[in-house]
Amino acid sequence: MTERKKVTLPRLFKKVSDGQPITWLTCYDYPTAYLQEQAGIDMILVGDSLGMTMLGYESTLPVTMDDMIRHTQAVRRGTPNAFLVGDMPYMSYQPSIETAIRNAGRFMAEASCDGIKLEGGAEMADRIHGIVAAGIPAMGHLGLTPQSVSALGGYRVQGKGALQAKKIIDDAKALEQAGAFAILLEMVPDRLCELITKRAENCFIMSLGSGPHAHGQLLIYHDMFGLYPRFKPRMAKVFGNAGEVILNGLKQYVQEVSESTFPQPENWFGMPDEEYEELLKMLGE
Ligand code: KIV
Repeated sequence: MTERKKVTLPRLFKKVSDGQPITWLTCYDYPTAYLQEQAGIDMILVGDSLGMTMLGYESTLPVTMDDMIRHTQAVRRGTPNAFLVGDMPYMSYQPSIETAIRNAGRFMAEASCDGIKLEGGAEMADRIHGIVAAGIPAMGHLGLTPQSVSALGGYRVQGKGALQAKKIIDDAKALEQAGAFAILLEMVPDRLCELITKRAENCFIMSLGSGPHAHGQLLIYHDMFGLYPRFKPRMAKVFGNAGEVILNGLKQYVQEVSESTFPQPENWFGMPDEEYEELLKMLGE
């Protein structure tokens, strides 16, 4: 594995003050984490989107803390140096501040995370405050928040109207004042993202489908490589169609086994003739 320096919060803030965009991707497993480490990704999010991308659920709501911990541990084994963010799943922080602190603590103690993310605005500021007071870096998530997709009326852009945009700006300030080190803006208009980024004083702003004016960008790994079959959101540029490559490989495997052209001698293991003869003697053949 190529060695690089551990990405820490001070290093992320240094990038921000140097005007260098922060790179961030989702990741849910060891081999992908290994590749992302090699590519030099700054931050990795083990998102509860794994409920859809890895476990095949219709939404993120069925994902449990135990699901998250298992995947986050695997990711950490593949990426010792990226700044690793654990995504708090549905109902792991909404019920109370204490629940939020306990579950955030699990990400740190059991999966060696560097911080956590949770969804929601001013109404979740006390959770962020409690988690940060417990010594755990916490980030917010505004705009399209998938755990509230039903209340939001579907996967759609948030903050197109002035009133809703103002609420998102106020929510961002509330999270920043509660101690969030960063805020993710998902699917808000680019100009709203720019306004919030300009107003951020003690936290940095990350964009997922919210335009270029944030301090950095996040993409869902499965979207960028054509690995999620159900839908392809507009913000998800496909950087390589791994899904197609894998499907072609699978078809070829089926064909070669069916036609007995796989395996070939280079794909199996032999044994010395004398050992084989001895074996046949032992078997009486
Ligand atoms: O779960 C996740 O991957 C997320 C992204 C959609 C931001 O929260």
